[in-house]
Amino acid sequence: MIFTVTAYYNFAKKLARQAHLKLGKVEIKKFLDGEIYARITEEVSNRNVYVIGASMPPSDNLVEFLLLINALKIAGARKITAIIPYLGYSRGDHIVKRGEAVSAKLIADILKCAGIDYLITVDIHSPRVVKFLKMPLINIRAQELLAHEILRSRKISKIMNRKDRVKKRIVIVAPDRGALPLAKRMAKIFQTDIAWMEKTRPRPDIASVSSLRGNVKDKIAIIVDDMIDTAGTIVGAFRLLKKAGSKEIIIAATHPIFAGPAISRLKKARIFKIFVTDTVPLTERQCFKKVKIVSVVPLIARVL
Ligand code: R5P
Repeated sequence: MIFTVTAYYNFAKKLARQAHLKLGKVEIKKFLDGEIYARITEEVSNRNVYVIGASMPPSDNLVEFLLLINALKIAGARKITAIIPYLGYSRGDHIVKRGEAVSAKLIADILKCAGIDYLITVDIHSPRVVKFLKMPLINIRAQELLAHEILRSRKISKIMNRKDRVKKRIVIVAPDRGALPLAKRMAKIFQTDIAWMEKTRPRPDIASVSSLRGNVKDKIAIIVDDMIDTAGTIVGAFRLLKKAGSKEIIIAATHPIFAGPAISRLKKARIFKIFVTDTVPLTERQCFKKVKIVSVVPLIARVL
């Protein structure tokens, strides 16, 4: 049986269908003071259960998730496997300035303490977060899925048909050091070279991308990252690539957070196409024409 927080109801329905699992009934209410009430209305005693949850803002998502885990635990579930498509608060995985909280460690501790036995998630932000989690987990990689979708576009498949031309025409780009392993995975699939950049954050939510290395001139550049938040990183990388003579720019990013100015920034930039997954539920406004959403549901269903 599979349970879910409200924000992932559609995702859960899809997953339940594909994995041939029953979607467990829950009662979620909000008290007038804003506190959340959660109750599971299914028999789970001695059963293995899945619960889809989120640790991303608003913080109600996390509270609802923790209450569901708690309710399952009290009702005697044997093994609780959490499915967290996008693990929020992961970027706070080390101290940059003295006095800061390490949010990724705190969230990992809270999840463990709530009673999760096993975790399934997608493209965890960094190896540090994996260490913090201290529980058995499956970290699904979305690069193959995104690559597969990019390869379906006519422009790219035409180039790929001429193996001798791929390196001349396509380059995979990491917009910062953190994205390098993802770019390398993607480059392996495309059998081409990578280029990379340096990124600094002079202030929170402000990205400064510079020092492009690698040959991108006259090529289609595929920028790979784990997430698009305010889109500062992507747009910074886009500008640098354009300046260096890239012909066309495609984005392949796993988690479409699309916060603050992201949509207007992405719309303004002359990006050819933005490939993302459905690990974060998007509103209609956020699904604009250039955005192609590829579902991770079949990948998750396969490991259940
Ligand atoms: C950072 O380390 C991440 O991998 C992303 O590059 C970053 O979070 C994207 O944020 P934004 O879209 O706000 O630049």
